[in-house]
Amino acid sequence: MTMDRINQVYSYLNENVKTKPDVCVVLGSGLGSYADTIEDAQVLDYKNIPGFPVSTVPGHAGRLVFGKKHGVNIACMQGRVHCYEGYSTAETVIPLRALIKLGVKKLLMTNAAGGVNMDFSPGDIMLIRDHINFTSLTPLEGPNLDEFGPRFPDMSYAYDKELIAALDAAAKDNNIPVQKGVYMMLKGPSFETPSEIKAVRILGADAVGMSTVPEILAAAHAGVKSCAMSCITNMAAGILDQPLNHEEVMETGAIAADNIKTIIDGFIQRVG
Ligand code: HPA
Repeated sequence: MTMDRINQVYSYLNENVKTKPDVCVVLGSGLGSYADTIEDAQVLDYKNIPGFPVSTVPGHAGRLVFGKKHGVNIACMQGRVHCYEGYSTAETVIPLRALIKLGVKKLLMTNAAGGVNMDFSPGDIMLIRDHINFTSLTPLEGPNLDEFGPRFPDMSYAYDKELIAALDAAAKDNNIPVQKGVYMMLKGPSFETPSEIKAVRILGADAVGMSTVPEILAAAHAGVKSCAMSCITNMAAGILDQPLNHEEVMETGAIAADNIKTIIDGFIQRVG
C-alpha cells in the first residue's frame, strides 16, 4: 500500500523532473523562500503530484522545487505534512522515499522547536546532534520495505557527523552562533504542559518539536546521510510565565530565517 503510493509519486517525478536531485532540503515554516534562489528552478505543486500528501498547516506552502545550487542538484520541499494532521507516519515520508528512489543521497531537515535547555533563547539555531522519539510513531512499522533497507536499521549515526560539521562550518564562516543539542519529537498538535517539559529535560532533550524524526528514520533506514537544524522559536511551556502560540513560532522563525538560509546555502556549497 505504502510502496504503491511511493511508486506513484516516484513515477511522476521520474517522468517530469529535469534535474534529478542528489541533496534534499526540507524547509520548515518561514524558510520556504530559500527555494526562490535555486537556479534553473522547476516548481511542482504537491497537489498536482499523484499520491503526494498535502499539508493543511498555515505557513507550509506545499511545493517541491528542483534545480541547482552551487553546482549541486537539489530538491527543496517547501512545507511538509505532520503526523498530527492525521496522516500515518508512513504517509508523512512518502515524498522523501520517492526522492530517495529518484537519487537523493543526503538530507537536511529544518524545523521550528521549543527550547528546553535553559541556556537557549528564542531565535537561537540548534544543530541536532541526536533525537529522542517520544511518540512511538515510526514510518518503519508494518512490512519492511526491503528495497530501502533492513528490518532493524541502526540509528547510531542517524545524524551524520560530516554533515553536522558542514552546517557548523557554514555557520562559523558567516559568524552565526549555533547551539548543538538533542531534539525530542512529541506528537502535538497541542504544545506540551510545563510538567511534560520538566520530564523532557530530565530525559535529556534540549529542544522539542512535532516533526523531523519520521524523515530521519526513513533516511537512516535507506542509508541516506542526514542532518537537521532547529530554529528555537520559543522557550517550551512553563519556562517563561507566558502562553505559547503558533503566531509566536512564526514570528520568531521569521527573525532567524535569514541566518538559517545562510547556513543552508553554505551547507550546500560544502556537501556538493
Ligand atoms: N513545542 C513543540 N513544538 C514546537 C514548539 C514547542 O514549544 N515550538 C515550535 N514547535
